[in-house]
Amino acid sequence: IQISDNWPGYSLDLFTYPQHYYGDLEYVLIPHGIIVDRTERLAKDIVQDIGDNDIVVLCVLKGGYKFCADLVEHIKNLSRNSERFISMKVDFVRLKSYHNDQSMQDMQIMGGDDLSKLTGLFFLLYKDIVGTGRTMKVLLNNIEKYKPKMIKVASLLVKRTSQPDGYRPDYYGFEIPDLFVVGYALDYNEHFRDLNHICVINDHGKTKYRV
Ligand code: IMP
Ligand code: MG
Repeated sequence: IQISDNWPGYSLDLFTYPQHYYGDLEYVLIPHGIIVDRTERLAKDIVQDIGDNDIVVLCVLKGGYKFCADLVEHIKNLSRNSERFISMKVDFVRLKSYHNDQSMQDMQIMGGDDLSKLTGLFFLLYKDIVGTGRTMKVLLNNIEKYKPKMIKVASLLVKRTSQPDGYRPDYYGFEIPDLFVVGYALDYNEHFRDLNHICVINDHGKTKYRV
């Protein structure tokens, strides 16, 4: 789903959201219900492509936790109601690359089991958002060392950035304008993860939570 640059979004007054964020947001870019519905379809596409493979789901924290949980839930439902049952392992890694709304050069990867045990398995990587794609490239380089059978990447959002060689995940929910968005586990300095909808933060919010 492509969200165009001139899409005005939905007025915040049309939805409910936590009172502690009143005044900090510009508008709703993607309401929660649409996120969930779109994720259900991504799950169907993924299940079709997996074939008979057992999979390892690698969730990229923290921003990917909602998307990962919802996607895994949809895949389980599909699998339970079909002839071929998909066996899934789940693991988590954490990356940190943002300061305020700026992407930083140095990136830290933390956590995750001993990934070398996963050689030869089919990986599904779940991520919240691909911006410049730099984070994704670092992560993929790291995982490819362990010679997985296949790596497929699913990201809820892809941002239209100025980089023409922008990385494209195998599956994504929405392509969005080059805006800083929060909600549905995406944060601004750790705030707004408890917001259901994906929203655009305003200047007041940016200043309030700046570190
Ligand atoms: P990239 O390296 O520029 O692709 O940035 C990837 C990471 O930056 C993502 O994993 C997010 O955690 C974070 N990020 C990028 N854009 C946004 C945004 O609009 N809101 C919240 N986090 C973002
Ligand atoms: Mg973040």
